[in-house]
Amino acid sequence: MTEAPAFPQARTCPYEPPTGYDPLREGESLRRVTLFDGRQVWVVTKHAQARALLSDPRVSADRRRDGFPFISPRVANLRDRRPTLLSMDQPEHGPRRRMLIPEFTARRLKEMRPRIEQIVHDALDAMLTKGPPADLVADFSLPVPSLVICELLGVPYADHEFFQDASRRLIQSETSEETAAAADSLKDYFQALAAEPPPGMIARLIDDHLESGHLDADEFTSTAMLLLVAGHETTASVISLGVITLLDHPEQLAALRSGPQAAAGAVEELLRYLSIVDIMSRVAAEDIEIDGTVIRAGEGIVFGSSLANRDENAFAEPDSFDITRPATHHLSFGYGIHQCLGQNLARTELQIALPALFERIPALKLAVEVGELTLRGPATIQGVNELPVTW
Ligand code: HEM
Repeated sequence: MTEAPAFPQARTCPYEPPTGYDPLREGESLRRVTLFDGRQVWVVTKHAQARALLSDPRVSADRRRDGFPFISPRVANLRDRRPTLLSMDQPEHGPRRRMLIPEFTARRLKEMRPRIEQIVHDALDAMLTKGPPADLVADFSLPVPSLVICELLGVPYADHEFFQDASRRLIQSETSEETAAAADSLKDYFQALAAEPPPGMIARLIDDHLESGHLDADEFTSTAMLLLVAGHETTASVISLGVITLLDHPEQLAALRSGPQAAAGAVEELLRYLSIVDIMSRVAAEDIEIDGTVIRAGEGIVFGSSLANRDENAFAEPDSFDITRPATHHLSFGYGIHQCLGQNLARTELQIALPALFERIPALKLAVEVGELTLRGPATIQGVNELPVTW
């Protein structure tokens, strides 16, 4: 067994953690891993300790701090960019997050529900009219959350080819130059949009916060970028990988079909099982003792949600996929002050999209073997860029 295995590693199955993580699942809750640049940092392998550290104010998300663990050259390139909510600590974080909350309240979500249902059924109508085969990512998984977040933000969906491509390059480019070019193109796009914003959250942020000086132009564009990218690639991945997982577990798919009450449980279990945002990165701002281990100030800490979400102390038989289990305490939306702002929007989209897909296309199946799919590499949102299906 390697003393400090490489982290992150590539998956070989779309819904299972990398097999190279197996040795990390045994033993202590904090282990050493080696990042791409040869640095060794802590990885938190257990659920309780991950929750404790993610909500500990001595643990910083500020990527400009010495010792912050970058998990790829792509992410390292973002170091000197304007921090977004994701990389702010208190006291900066709270007021910034509060600016974004009005669009994510339970009331707003309830109002959005009929429109989300319509978006889902329109996408399915188009798929059925075109007939099999289809690329589920291009025809369903991506357009549904993309349209929802565009309408919420007030971004013209007509520009989707541009921003879907730029977001994908932002989260998947191999080189720093390509990542920077993708970020710059999105920044220019939002700067231009700000001159005459359509109705939506962007226009509201301009009226409420940009004009009054609570947000400057740079922070405004980085916030808009964060919302756009976070709002569609993530949910899209859960739809695509969720379909693969359900088709591979027919008895669970049958349980999902048993009625609307099954959908909420299925979505939580898929979120747990898939752990698509498999890495959160932090740095210790002070010495922290946990479980008999001392993390020194300036040491990097990474959290693998696929490790914590498969911790047998938190989930019985964690490697079995069971949509009836209680799974809501999974860490797939993170934990602590950075816990996902869009989690209830994502849940609503998934609870509508997955049952509707299997109801409208009951004979849906993959058009290739799971082993033939090209999986995204490590160090990004886990998923597939194409998913050939037929019926
Ligand atoms: C299934 C879909 C999604 C998953 C799995 C997911 C996952 C996550 C995770 C793990 C974090 C915390 C990262 C960290 O602590 O380092 C996060 C934060 C965030 N997410 Fe999501 N997300 C999803 C959908 C969305 C949607 C639809 C939006 C809507 C715009 C969104 C917006 C955000 C924002 C703004 C943050 C930063 C919150 C903060 O720092 O206070 N996410 N998400």
